[in-house]
Amino acid sequence: MSGDLAEPGAFLTNNDEFPTWNFGGMVPINHDAYDTACNWKLAMDTFGETYHFSSLHKDMLFNTFHGNVQCYDDDAGAGGHSHRMILCRRDIDQMALEIQMFIRTIAQDFAEIIRDEDYVMGESQQAAANSGALDHFIFGRNEPALHHYHATYAEKLGLPVEPLLDTV
Ligand SMILES: [Fe+2]
Repeated sequence: MSGDLAEPGAFLTNNDEFPTWNFGGMVPINHDAYDTACNWKLAMDTFGETYHFSSLHKDMLFNTFHGNVQCYDDDAGAGGHSHRMILCRRDIDQMALEIQMFIRTIAQDFAEIIRDEDYVMGESQQAAANSGALDHFIFGRNEPALHHYHATYAEKLGLPVEPLLDTV
């Protein structure tokens, strides 16, 4: 084995996230020891993938986790030796449904606000424009998107682009 692990655990200190995990505040809640006739690497390999949930753990873990979904990340490219793997609980399915329903509700509420408030105001502004009482509109500096829209419209229509006015 190479000597790059001469300082066991040293690689754990090279991760900016670890200090946020509060390892010092964690309390052990269980300790088990198993006398098993397999190499320690095989014992550790069971934590390296989850697709076996559907066959080996079909009555327990497979009901709680999506065995075929996981997120994996490592720092091997940066010369590190750590990795993390995140499993996907099946609760995410219900969360996805709730998020979709929430987004639909927000989108519908937003559409109704646009229709009932913004476009009502837009009709009022159009009536004012149609009256001929105003020969131009001034957009504020807090309306950069409107400057961009209207400058783009003017440019594409071959109309003069109004310059920005300096503040006094
Ligand atoms: Fe397993």
